[in-house]
Amino acid sequence: MCGIIGYIGKKQAKEVVIQGLKRLEYRGYDSAGVAFINGGLNVKKCKGKVSSLESLLHESENGHIGIGHTRWATHGEPNDINSHPHTSSNGKLAVVHNGIIENYNSLKKKLESEGYKFYSETDTEILAKLIESFLDKYPEIALEKSVQMATAQVSGTYGLAVVHEEEADKIVVARKGSPLLIGVGEDEMLIASDASAVAEYTDKVIYLDDGELAVITRDSYQVLNSEEIELSKEIHELAMSLEEIEKGGFPYFMLKEIFEQPKTISDSLRGRLNVGEVSITLGGLENVMEKLVKANRIIIAACGTSWHSGLVGEYLFEWLAKVPVEVEYASEFRYKDPLIREDDVLIVISQSGETADTLAALREAKEKGATVLGIVNVVGSTIARETDAGVYLHSGPEIGVASTKAFTGQVTVLTLIALSLGLQKGTIDKAEAGRIIRALSTIPNKIEEILEQSLKIKEIADLFTYAPNFLYLGRSYNFPVALEGALKLKEISYIHAEGYPAAEMKHGPIALIDEMMPVVVIAATEHTNDKMVSNIEEIKARKGRIIAIATPNNNEVMDLAEFSITIPETEDVLSPLLSVIPLQLLSYYIAVNRGCNVDQPRNLAKSVTVE
Ligand code: M6R
Repeated sequence: MCGIIGYIGKKQAKEVVIQGLKRLEYRGYDSAGVAFINGGLNVKKCKGKVSSLESLLHESENGHIGIGHTRWATHGEPNDINSHPHTSSNGKLAVVHNGIIENYNSLKKKLESEGYKFYSETDTEILAKLIESFLDKYPEIALEKSVQMATAQVSGTYGLAVVHEEEADKIVVARKGSPLLIGVGEDEMLIASDASAVAEYTDKVIYLDDGELAVITRDSYQVLNSEEIELSKEIHELAMSLEEIEKGGFPYFMLKEIFEQPKTISDSLRGRLNVGEVSITLGGLENVMEKLVKANRIIIAACGTSWHSGLVGEYLFEWLAKVPVEVEYASEFRYKDPLIREDDVLIVISQSGETADTLAALREAKEKGATVLGIVNVVGSTIARETDAGVYLHSGPEIGVASTKAFTGQVTVLTLIALSLGLQKGTIDKAEAGRIIRALSTIPNKIEEILEQSLKIKEIADLFTYAPNFLYLGRSYNFPVALEGALKLKEISYIHAEGYPAAEMKHGPIALIDEMMPVVVIAATEHTNDKMVSNIEEIKARKGRIIAIATPNNNEVMDLAEFSITIPETEDVLSPLLSVIPLQLLSYYIAVNRGCNVDQPRNLAKSVTVE
């Protein structure tokens, strides 16, 4: 949620800040704003996209120091006044903020009683006035001291950046709960919410941790902890190419990311899957493998699409490694005072590695003594750094708000962990493991085959573009895929869709079925096929319009369905990696037909850093 960028250095700040905001726009896109210092402080902000902000900028809004913000509204509707940056009463200081200041009401009352005036409905404005109030009371202190005093008074979360026209040689940043990094360049420094905004200027980054504050000048950075002790921070090397964060000829990032999946899955498997030896190498788990083998229970916590891949993980772990699994919404896990035993292992799954609820679940479990593993895409993200061990997806930056390649990356990694665990525990024999491992190595090519049918999938999408509702049904490994298909459709096309385990249909949702209702049935696992066929008959008897996802030899299903999309045969345990692909394309084409911005759907943001 909300993207923050800052620049100080040899270049004109405007070009870097605006370019950075465009890269960060997937984090929030209801309004945008910038502040530059060029003599005095110059602020421009407006409701809408970065392109609307750009058209407001003149030559004079420039200088060698600037900060910018792209917003996902929490407090106060998206409008020009509520947009960031927010300024001090004297107009000399500007703040951009990602997070929520929970005690803003009481602080606001206090500051109002001291004569400070507020103009917006945001929680952020109190930060500007609070920092100003310390500078007014103690004129001798530096900007960083006033920021430190202000952050000591607020509760909640923040990633923030502050500039002041009288201290125009620095940007002060602070972090608690919302991500921030420093990009270290040659005679220039950047700060940003994530690496995509700095990748074209530098490959050296420093990740700030909670409670840290940093003072950035064009040729130095100083990071302090909450006791104001200077810290020596590790500089990480970014492995992110520009190509990865550009559309590369595709109309939308989502479509690019769908088509990248043969490659991203190969990248996830590379060096980990040993087909000949029938073994799995997961370097990141070496130190915790014993713990995993001895685990009496695995708990998986995640949100959204990552929660769906966690549900696939439940089937995988229980089937291959014979260990009980509970899959929790991270947001619920934290507040139910979970019972965690020493021999429990928690796996958190997150594409961004910054989701606030998932991070909170991780911290809760750690505090209660569990070993916590991460399945994360973004290298260096907070969740990746705070887990005891983990496995990266290697899916590359996912920019479309609708998660696609991260889902298949997560399921791939979960499959690798479950197989590795099953082999070590002896719950799966070598012959069976060998068959699954061989099949896994062929998944990228099989996805290519599905992608070749994109025109056919588009034709089906054209017929159902204006359907008001959709039902998605699946069994076993493909029940979570039904949930994922429904989520994809609703989040980018705004069509109401429900995912259900196919057998549950007759306990309620069957009442919805008539000749107007498209029902997507995922008939992709052999061991549930007969039951799935019965469910399809039940839909047909009520004149529902059946779109089947099935293997080419599944004539029974294809004869019953009005439309069929075929996916190549594979092992049942691997079928979600194939069956989800047509559903991603179906929702994409429907959303495009409806004129929706699929990369930036309304009300959403890519990285949900507030609870
Ligand atoms: O970054 P995370 O994987 O932790 O994000 C979790 C959800 O916010 C995310 O999967 C969301 O549901 C996507 N928009 C789904 O496409």
